[in-house]
Amino acid sequence: MKVNNARIINLEPIIDGIDGYLCVAENQREIPFEIKRVYYIYNLDSPQAVRGKHAHRELEQVLFCLKGSFDLLLDDGFKQEKILMENPQTGIYMGTGVWHIMDNFSKDCVIMVLASDYFTEKDYIRDYDEFTRFKNR
Ligand code: TYD
Repeated sequence: MKVNNARIINLEPIIDGIDGYLCVAENQREIPFEIKRVYYIYNLDSPQAVRGKHAHRELEQVLFCLKGSFDLLLDDGFKQEKILMENPQTGIYMGTGVWHIMDNFSKDCVIMVLASDYFTEKDYIRDYDEFTRFKNR
């Protein structure tokens, strides 16, 4: 990937024939950190819905689009990259200091995020100028 501190994590599904597919994401294995928090996002029916618009100082996360699709814009302060998220077996790892914006959600979109720490607003950088200063520190 073009953007620093972000990469694709491909989960190999266990294919159970007519009984469907199963993907596994384990601590410190497929997911390169200890998972302390899981959250998911749904009810994205509004065409104007936009999420993210922030970076994290210390948090690491892996995003999965479990159903439907959306656009994920990643920005490391120098380079940007847009990824179409539409495959439940493809996760995107976002390390510290990756500004991200999510939009263009399909109505049925369900996103799951695995995070390396508990929620704290203090870890967020929600101002783009502050993000630029953080990256150039
Ligand atoms: P935010 O992280 O900005 O969502 P997104 O990146 O998907 O746009 O969080 C939205 C709101 O939810 C914000 O008020 C913080 C709150 N929140 C929690 O209380 N706990 C959590 O674990 C998360 C992810 C968010």
